[in-house]
Amino acid sequence: MEERLQKILAKAGIASRRQAEQLIRAGRIRINDQVVVEMGCKADPVRDRITCDGKPIDFEEKIYVLLNKPAGYVTTLADPQGRPMVSDLLTGIEERLFPVGRLDLDTEGALLMTNDGELANRILHPRFEVNKTYEALVAGFPAREKLALLEQGIVIDGIKTRPARVRVLQRRSGASLVEIVIHEGKKRQVRKMFQAVDHRVLHLKRTAYGQLYLGHLPLGKFKILSSDDLKKIFSYKIPFTIKNITD
Ligand code: URA
Repeated sequence: MEERLQKILAKAGIASRRQAEQLIRAGRIRINDQVVVEMGCKADPVRDRITCDGKPIDFEEKIYVLLNKPAGYVTTLADPQGRPMVSDLLTGIEERLFPVGRLDLDTEGALLMTNDGELANRILHPRFEVNKTYEALVAGFPAREKLALLEQGIVIDGIKTRPARVRVLQRRSGASLVEIVIHEGKKRQVRKMFQAVDHRVLHLKRTAYGQLYLGHLPLGKFKILSSDDLKKIFSYKIPFTIKNITD
């Protein structure tokens, strides 16, 4: 099926659509050995030979999985220290899938993996504001004012975080289980946010991208996502207000 060239390149994970346009304009893309520089140009990835800098582009089938990442696994695709990698858990999947965003070594939970660069770019781009939901077990009992600070935005690494949604789910001995929904993806963001209000994160788990929840997926297991599952990533809940459970 014919599609616009920049869409084909983005789907193949070569670049975002904007970057694809730059590649086309720079004359780096050829269709059947002809350089194309017009934006409207269409091609058929099955029938046509499309190359970037002379190298053929690989159009493998796109697959999407949701993995329940255990702690102790790195989300990089190569690890010089030889630690377990999330890709080790994708038994039976031959395609090379990359994680959509990262999770720290010690964070568990929902990790979307795909070979669809375009979808990954959309999920990670701040413009689409895809919510990521985390459950953080934090030391102590954060006061309402501190939760409000987290919701409004708090300075970490010199930059104020975007508004978040926060609610206390449970109080345990000396610790609280707090749900926090953010749509940014700064390095160790949730841990740093709680650190900024003097509550150390003891355990962290991502439970959802948008409305796509881990559910009962066992730790270390994955499921292949349907197109309905993918739609859930881009759907949102009504914002909730801060509600602390009082003993
Ligand atoms: N925030 C963190 O602090 N760690 C993660 O792994 C993800 C979000």
